[in-house]
Amino acid sequence: MRTVSDMEKITDYLCRYKSYNFPIEKVTSEYIDSLQSFEIRDSDIFLVTYPKSGTIWTQQIIISICELGGGLNEYSNNYDQMPWLEYTEGQKDYSLRPSPRLFASHLIPTLMPPGLKDKKTKIIYVMRNPKDNIVSYYHFSGDLTDMETPKILASSWFDHIREWHSKKDQYDILFLTYEDMILDLKTAVTKICRFLGKNLSEEAIEQVVEKSTFKTMKKDSKANYEFIPQDKFSGNFMRKGNIGDWKNIFTVAQSERVDKVLQEKLGDLSLKFIWE
Ligand code: A3P
Repeated sequence: MRTVSDMEKITDYLCRYKSYNFPIEKVTSEYIDSLQSFEIRDSDIFLVTYPKSGTIWTQQIIISICELGGGLNEYSNNYDQMPWLEYTEGQKDYSLRPSPRLFASHLIPTLMPPGLKDKKTKIIYVMRNPKDNIVSYYHFSGDLTDMETPKILASSWFDHIREWHSKKDQYDILFLTYEDMILDLKTAVTKICRFLGKNLSEEAIEQVVEKSTFKTMKKDSKANYEFIPQDKFSGNFMRKGNIGDWKNIFTVAQSERVDKVLQEKLGDLSLKFIWE
């Protein structure tokens, strides 16, 4: 049975547990705690992102690579093929899933299964220009029926980036940016293939690229998340899909404020920011 007993209710939609904001309907504290003993397999593949950084895009890329690389079971859509680790919907028992299992997650490292640190499990982490991330999140939260802005899901963007980057030596992790993928999708796909140890032909790589373009995904009912009921989410996951949308929305002062906070909070990490 679902309980939110030791979770702090923030709104009717959100609760806070272990410094992280969860959607009440999709989690229990017991389940989140149980992830500490979640059995990881060497063949598991994890996609980790802060929300609105390009999760469903990278999900489509990884799924397409694994499909063409052979050996994936059929599921009705990408959400079922690569479920969110932290959500209990359907109370699925993942120990019964055949390998390779694919998972998506927005969690921070402390809430992830410790078994991920044995370095055999592959993690792909995608980050996006925080200004575009904010704009995408702003539209998304406006379209989430139960969400009351300005409350947000997950943790702070800055904490997410810091925690995953500062713990990178503990994991077998590939860092990519949304901007890398926009500027050169084929190179990004090739990098992911290599990282996952999938030796795809040139032709197969082209196929993955084609399946993962914004245009193709928008029409692909397995990938575009239009299967989410309209009464829960009235917008479109495939919204604009470009870089620099923040310039249409931010004032100069807002942009400078993000630059300042970015420098204060993450300036000491030598991150490759290629947003512009
Ligand atoms: P915008 O809101 O800026 O359009 P997430 O999957 O983490 O929720 O991220 C959603 C963002 O990724 C949306 O950004 C969406 O348009 C973008 N996106 C999804 N698929 C994409 C694709 N194939 N190419 C480019 N952007 C994509």
